[in-house]
Amino acid sequence: MTAAHDAARALFAELTGREPDGLWSAPGRVNLIGEHTDYNDGFVLPFAIPQRTVAAVGLRDDDRGRVLVGSTFAEEPVEVALDELDGLFPTAQGAHPAVPEWAAYPLGVAWALRHAAAQAGPFRGLDIAIASDVPVGAGLSSSAAIEGATASALNELWGTGLDATALARVGRRAENEAVGAPTGIMDQMASMLGEPATAIFLDCRSLEAQPVPLGIAEAGLAILVIDTRVTHTHSTGGYRERRASCELGASLLDVPALRDVSVADLPRARQLMDDVTFRRVRHIVTENQRVLDTVQVLRERGARGIGELLVASHVSMRDDFEISTVELDTAVDTALAAGALGARMTGGGFGGAAIALVERDAVEAVSDAVTAAFAASGFDAPHLFTVTPSAGPLRDA
Ligand code: GLA
Repeated sequence: MTAAHDAARALFAELTGREPDGLWSAPGRVNLIGEHTDYNDGFVLPFAIPQRTVAAVGLRDDDRGRVLVGSTFAEEPVEVALDELDGLFPTAQGAHPAVPEWAAYPLGVAWALRHAAAQAGPFRGLDIAIASDVPVGAGLSSSAAIEGATASALNELWGTGLDATALARVGRRAENEAVGAPTGIMDQMASMLGEPATAIFLDCRSLEAQPVPLGIAEAGLAILVIDTRVTHTHSTGGYRERRASCELGASLLDVPALRDVSVADLPRARQLMDDVTFRRVRHIVTENQRVLDTVQVLRERGARGIGELLVASHVSMRDDFEISTVELDTAVDTALAAGALGARMTGGGFGGAAIALVERDAVEAVSDAVTAAFAASGFDAPHLFTVTPSAGPLRDA
């Protein structure tokens, strides 16, 4: 049990005066490579991290079909009738949810799960208390962790019996339609399918997932997360714009999604669209290829071989997709100069975290170099920690 487990249990007791029926948790994720490819039907290679979100959940005795959600990062709990959820969601495109945004994640999961498993109803009311040690807004999928923990708890308590992929779809629907963030399905799949020591090679069109052993520790390496502490949100602005550019590019190329475009098609693509759209397309097309190459290198040569692919991915996000920040570039450049084998920003961009692949013995030296570079540039001090691929959702009590 971690501090988040204790905090969720204590909040549950404070809100309800009783013990929860159980504690469920789900992890955040790091994406090793394959950024913004998920909503283009492409490939991604994320893994679940040790940091988790915990949901303490209990069915209500009074059975008036109400759901109460509280979180350690909100002052007040929110309570609604389950039958009211259809009046609250979906949230209109570009609008704010009808409940505080943090509450739209668990309530959106309850809403989407009821729709995905309507035959299992009627559904009993319940109380939910949430605590997390996944940093929020750091590009480490704190939102998918909330969705995964809540969906796992409700799936069990309501007896809805959905499998991991179906629960990932429930989480994504909550994110897209309740919170209103137009994201893909990578984060939810990474959180739901996490396994120790492996990354998840996911085809976002078929949702076929293959575990790929990472062999980081065996190679004497470590993955260092550099959280720049510049927070971001994907419900607004840049993320939505990038997605629209990708859809425009696909329609100009007359394909269902950019997944259907190969590197060899790029010269033709350049003739068909403006420069900005072309560069957005080029990022997606080359990034898909880099994911395939990374999987092949991991299988044939191991983790030591992937450094250049990570760097090429960062350069493409910085120059073509234009989602990096000066802090993320500083993190990547400094880590590489201090001896990292590879480094890149991870997640949706516009803030958040970078990852660096470093010799285990060099973790401290690289961390010190990044901290010093941030101080010299006048940025807030970064949070630095290593991560290892970890388990997906668990019932912990
Ligand atoms: C966010 C979204 C994901 C994915 C990444 C970028 O994490 O939630 O669906 O699009 O950005 O790869």
